[in-house]
Order: sequence, then structure tokens, then C-alpha cells
Amino acid sequence: MTTVYDDLGDQAASDVPMRRIKFTINGMRKAAEVEPRLLLSHLIRQGLGLTGTHMGCDTTNCGACTVLVDGKAIKSCTMLAVQADRHEITTVEGLATASELHPLQEGFKQEHGLQCGFCTPGMMLAAKALLAANPDPTEEDVRWALSGNLCRCTGYQNIVKSVLWAAAKLQSESAGDQPESEPAVEPAQEA
Ligand code: FES
Ligand code: FES
Repeated sequence: MTTVYDDLGDQAASDVPMRRIKFTINGMRKAAEVEPRLLLSHLIRQGLGLTGTHMGCDTTNCGACTVLVDGKAIKSCTMLAVQADRHEITTVEGLATASELHPLQEGFKQEHGLQCGFCTPGMMLAAKALLAANPDPTEEDVRWALSGNLCRCTGYQNIVKSVLWAAAKLQSESAGDQPESEPAVEPAQEA
């Protein structure tokens, strides 16, 4: 895989202390040589070319960089790449299968949960962690789970509806029902 270094001017690359890490990302096993200070978000975007993980603030505020680490929603600008050693990472590129969108992706499409889409990958991964822990969330549960993810476009109304749509679809699938094209979702309160 590609090895990413910070530009240290004239300092030789061999002077940079490196750590070898192994991890799984979207089901693929990888190894990398990284500086101990490299952020996980930079490893994902520059090292692995998975640019669906967005960088909005670099200061743990916006949630655009949210990924799953061992199933937990983590802001990847807040975690060092070395901390991902021997852990399992999921990015937005790992949600869909070759032939099907993930129900969260379908939900955002059905309920118009995005405008520019910049916040959307982080929103979907935070929502995925929520639905794994709580398959039948209330609107308040969804709002709380997404409270660390900022959207500058949509006002959150349709984002919440999108997550509830996905929850309904996942529940109907796990119950063995034929998934409906548009699960009934109660209208969410205005943000
Ligand atoms: S880029 Fe990580 S929280 Fe904003
Ligand atoms: S859709 Fe534009 S920031 Fe959320």
C-alpha cells in the first residue's frame, strides 16, 4: 500500500520514526508504515485513497470524518493511525455491497437527507453505530446519536427521517419481511 509521510523539508525520510501497523478496513487486511503522529483520517484519505471520509474541521467538532472502529463511531481526526493497530475500521466505502446500497444509503436517498453531501458519510456511520446498538430508535435517540455531526445544509429534519427509514427497513429485513420500498416513518420534529 502507499506510505504517507509528512513533508519535513530537508530531513531524510529515514530520520522519521516509523511504526508498522496492521488493520482491517472495509473487510480488507492491510499493513502500513506510519509516523506515530499521523492521524487516522490522513491514513484513510491520503494513504488508502478512501476520500469518502471527509475533513471539515480537524478539531473534533464537525463529525465529517466519522468512521467505525470496531463498530464504534470515532472521529478519525481525533485518533492516531497507530491506535488503529489490530483494529477493524469501516468507512463509507464499506457500507454498500457490489450490488446493493446499504439501507442507510437508501434512506438518505429516499428521504432527501443530503444536499451538498459533505456531512453525509459521517452521518451514516454515526447512524450505523446507533442502529447496531439500538435497532428501533426514537427520533430523540437519532438526534442524540447524531449530535456530534454537523450539517450546514439540511436543518437535520430529513437526516433524522433518513435514519428512521433505514431502521424500519433493517427491522423488516431482519423479521424476514419483503422490504418495502418506502418504510412508513413518522414525520420528525423540526430541528
Ligand atoms: S474533521 Fe474530524 S470532527 Fe471535523
Ligand atoms: S448536506 Fe451539506 S453539510 Fe450536510
